[in-house]
Amino acid sequence: MTDPVLETLLLPLENGTIDLPPAPQRVLFLRARMGKDLGVFDKSQLDLVQSFAPDREALAAGGYEAQPDIRGETYGLVLLLPPRQKQEARALIAEAFRRVAPGGRVVLCAANSEGGKAFESDLADLAGALEGNQSKAKCRVAWAFRDDGRLNTGLLAEWLEGDAVRPILEGRFVSRPGLFAWDHVDPATDLLIRTLPVNLSGLGADLGAGFGVLSSGVLARCPKVAALDLYEAEKRALDLARQNLAAETAPRRLQFFWADVTKGLGRPYDFVVMNPPFHQATKADRTDVGQAFIRAAARGLKPGGHLWMVANRHLPYEGVINELFTDLTMAADEAGYKVIHARKVRGK
Ligand SMILES: C[S@@+](CC[C@H](N)C(=O)[O-])C[C@H]1O[C@@H](n2cnc3c(N)ncnc32)[C@H](O)[C@@H]1O
Repeated sequence: MTDPVLETLLLPLENGTIDLPPAPQRVLFLRARMGKDLGVFDKSQLDLVQSFAPDREALAAGGYEAQPDIRGETYGLVLLLPPRQKQEARALIAEAFRRVAPGGRVVLCAANSEGGKAFESDLADLAGALEGNQSKAKCRVAWAFRDDGRLNTGLLAEWLEGDAVRPILEGRFVSRPGLFAWDHVDPATDLLIRTLPVNLSGLGADLGAGFGVLSSGVLARCPKVAALDLYEAEKRALDLARQNLAAETAPRRLQFFWADVTKGLGRPYDFVVMNPPFHQATKADRTDVGQAFIRAAARGLKPGGHLWMVANRHLPYEGVINELFTDLTMAADEAGYKVIHARKVRGK
């Protein structure tokens, strides 16, 4: 599979516009992704950071080990693929400048349709000037030096702070920008919580648990739930889910898994709850991740186990659910969202 953003990020290194810093200076790649073009680096000089499990696993499969957070002190070159959310992206750009040594470079790239130009001007605002840019495959790569004489240190501090973990919803949860529905309870999640039967019981799993809102709702509403496993791909979210559910006490047992749900679950469950992710593509909604979640739920449930999920009303999940489950009902239909309940077919 091609990754035009990654390829464009590495373009100035490949075409010789930018040189790698001389050893022993190191290279840091934030939000790193796997691609054959990583071959441009000397592996021993490279530190990769990736907190999203599927991307981290793809790197591992390609022979590159990534850490969930930055371990080194200073770098001669920092590359980054900014995330979509503005405060999170700006904090990452600021972090890159904090980590790069004076005289070193920060290089970033994004698709034009995902803010390529805006990120370039963020880079220029922070660095004080842009050194260069290139475009390819509808993506834009831009780079700048760290020159402490013109670095905007006020902006640096402001952007770093913009991503800080903070209390939300009158202190009920802690959260941070960039997480799903980071500063409120998503209305679909809220509908699912309100629809769950209060006698839901046994061992459950929350797939794509985010910072723990749905799990928290399950535990509050369903006293017979004995244990709940939270699966989440984004470590930034899962770490906060742990904090948000820390007050939950024995005998209920909670476990937290930084994992790609689509690769399967750890043990058989009595029930699964989920508000699965879907990507808003330009022309159509991509439902393949949601469908993979449904398949993972089917594999992970005990025969006769219960699936409770919520989705945007128009997303076509019923086909795959009917393949793997029985007794599908629409348990709620409100404000553009549907809650689906189904039971795993016995013997499947
Ligand atoms: C729609 S959000 C739901 C979050 C939370 N459960 C709630 O209801 O507010 C979906 C979550 O799935 C996570 N996610 C996306 N892909 C994943 C994957 N392959 N495996 C596990 N989690 C994933 C996202 O990071 C996100 O937190």
